[in-house]
Amino acid sequence: MDTKAAVLWKTHSPWEIEEITLDDPGPGEVTVELAASGLCHSDEHLVTGDMRMPDDMQELLGFPQYPIIGGHEGAGTVVEVGPGVTSLAVGDNVALSFIPSCGRCPSCSTGKQSLCDLGQFLIVGRQIAGLTARHHLAKDGTDIGIMCCLGTFAPHTVVNEASCIKLEDDIPTDKAALVGCGVTTGWGTSVYRAQVQPGETVVIVGIGGIGINAIQGAVMCGARHIVAVDPVQFKRDSALQFGATHAVSDLEEAFALVGEITWGAMAEKAIITTGVAEGSMIASVMALVSKGGRCVVTSVADIAATEVTLSLFELTLMQKELVGGIFGGANARRDIPRLMRLYKEGKLKLDELVTTEYKLEDVNQGYQDMRDGKNLRGLIRY
Ligand SMILES: NC(=O)c1ccc[n+]([C@@H]2O[C@H](COP(=O)([O-])OP(=O)(O)OC[C@H]3O[C@@H](n4cnc5c(N)ncnc54)[C@H](O)[C@@H]3O)[C@@H](O)[C@H]2O)c1
Ligand SMILES: [Zn+2]
Ligand SMILES: [Zn+2]
Repeated sequence: MDTKAAVLWKTHSPWEIEEITLDDPGPGEVTVELAASGLCHSDEHLVTGDMRMPDDMQELLGFPQYPIIGGHEGAGTVVEVGPGVTSLAVGDNVALSFIPSCGRCPSCSTGKQSLCDLGQFLIVGRQIAGLTARHHLAKDGTDIGIMCCLGTFAPHTVVNEASCIKLEDDIPTDKAALVGCGVTTGWGTSVYRAQVQPGETVVIVGIGGIGINAIQGAVMCGARHIVAVDPVQFKRDSALQFGATHAVSDLEEAFALVGEITWGAMAEKAIITTGVAEGSMIASVMALVSKGGRCVVTSVADIAATEVTLSLFELTLMQKELVGGIFGGANARRDIPRLMRLYKEGKLKLDELVTTEYKLEDVNQGYQDMRDGKNLRGLIRY
């Protein structure tokens, strides 16, 4: 099949729209016609180089990470199934989960699908089956990688059935695109990784596509105070509309406010959802957290960064916790259908998440708007 896609040829360069040839789906794979793709910050890490695999790893794999088709937040309809596909048929609507769930690895089989062993393929850029490519440059056949085994910056893609979450027929696929990453990651960060409890105080640092959904999760958990931190006024206003009780512009202000509203006890939970995880901010965020409290890092850092500021004294004596989180610790096969039902019943906001819609050709404008703090979420509609 001939299609087009937004391809990144190297770091620090714009996305280029290229003519692409798609192979037929191989064993266990399907071709999906996408309705929409969200513009998540994680694809920006390919641009800045935060997510660039070290050279020796690329050499070991035997192929380069770039060129790569971006996008890992999509949904659409299955238009072709490969040999041996048993869980999907042509015409099925699916959300594409950025983390595959095989259902049978030690993590999947113990209810931790966000840690599926197939996650090892996320930044490799090839199909799970044999690390082969189905996406090629039309003009010369060059193999092209795909972000998170998906490559949703294209009207069509070929993916493994492990990445597909079947949707009920009445679920709108353009809305379901958002749960493939941002909504589930943010919501799950509050629900599963922070385990927010009724009456708790939660601080959410960074109100983009992930942080705004961490607010939705904290509201559902019954948090008493939800303090949003973001330097951008539009983000702070949006946070209040989504259920935050307070909004401040930096960590210093957050420290003073949280001290005041908790009578010095500080917040039970803090969540980091800034555009990039910076080790230098950890000590300041941990200072917002109470005795026995927990800080969850959901933002992605530079792959090579290892330095962190942290008071180990407080970590020990105040028994604080610092944890990470991928896909909010959610189980795609349980939580994606569940979140879409909550949306249908008016209990989860999805329509309000999309600030601006773009054509695929405008993907660079979409990312500029994200950098400029103009979007809660940008969405490419096909
Ligand atoms: N762990 C996972 O599974 C997972 C999944 C998806 C995305 N992510 C990561 O989550 C992060 C957020 O993604 P997004 O799509 O919401 O990004 P985004 O760019 O939409 O939002 C980031 C927000 O952080 C704010 N911000 C930046 N620096 C700040 C600071 N010092 N203090 C307070 N706010 C600050 C920005 O103003 C912006 O509103 C990214 O690093 C992304 O890669 C992780
Ligand atoms: Zn994402
Ligand atoms: Zn698995």
